[in-house]
Amino acid sequence: MEFPFDINHIFSDRISILDHTLVASRQSAVRTDLQDQIAAVVDELGRASAKAQQLPAPITSASKLQSQKHQLYLMKDGESNRGRGLVVGFLKVGYKKLFLLDRNGVHVEAEPLCVLDFYVAETLQRHGYGLELFNYMLQHQNVEPELLAYDRPSNKLLAFLAKHYGLVRSVPQVRFQICLCVRRMENRFPSGSRCCIVQDM
Ligand SMILES: CC(C)(COP(=O)(O)OP(=O)(O)OC[C@H]1O[C@@H](n2cnc3c(N)ncnc32)[C@H](O)[C@@H]1OP(=O)(O)O)[C@@H](O)C(=O)NCCC(=O)NCCS
Repeated sequence: MEFPFDINHIFSDRISILDHTLVASRQSAVRTDLQDQIAAVVDELGRASAKAQQLPAPITSASKLQSQKHQLYLMKDGESNRGRGLVVGFLKVGYKKLFLLDRNGVHVEAEPLCVLDFYVAETLQRHGYGLELFNYMLQHQNVEPELLAYDRPSNKLLAFLAKHYGLVRSVPQVRFQICLCVRRMENRFPSGSRCCIVQDM
């Protein structure tokens, strides 16, 4: 995704981590013009992701990021676009309080880290960028993919999780909105207590 300003000027690293402060570097902490550009990038990414997932409205925007305790991993390709850089995609995660249903049908309360939004620009999909972003997030959060919850996973995301991490949906869902996953082998021999979400709190 190209923008009418220099992406390398705002995002110095290949993957930047944004939170409610909308700050990507020391410079952008003090310059409102750079913060405006960061907001424009986040808004555009949110719109593109919603369109790709056929959602009625974006679930990611600068104003939402500013008001929630989420973290957004943003990837750029610094060399493209005649050295001005382009934005490859993003991954947004955050903790969510949820009621879970375990394999025995018992409700439990939990607050897992959830994958809330994930998008790679159309023309760059299936080139390994999604995996790079996802692995970066896993390392940064120090978490395994089967311990995350996935909010409204698209078929593409489910294919992605199956391919790269051998994950499949855990027990059948009562409500389809969020799912937890298990490694393929565990699902064939279900002895763990992985849960499915029944209700947001
Ligand atoms: C899901 C997504 C972020 C993955 O990023 P990516 O850069 O394409 O992922 P990678 O290149 O690292 O991995 C590719 C794998 O992802 C899955 N995948 C990616 N695009 C796919 C597509 N169009 N159809 C089916 N599976 C797809 C496949 O398993 C693919 O492996 P394959 O090419 O061997 O079949 C990206 O496809 C995307 O932005 N999709 C649209 C938005 C979306 O559905 N987001 C998930 C929100 S719940």
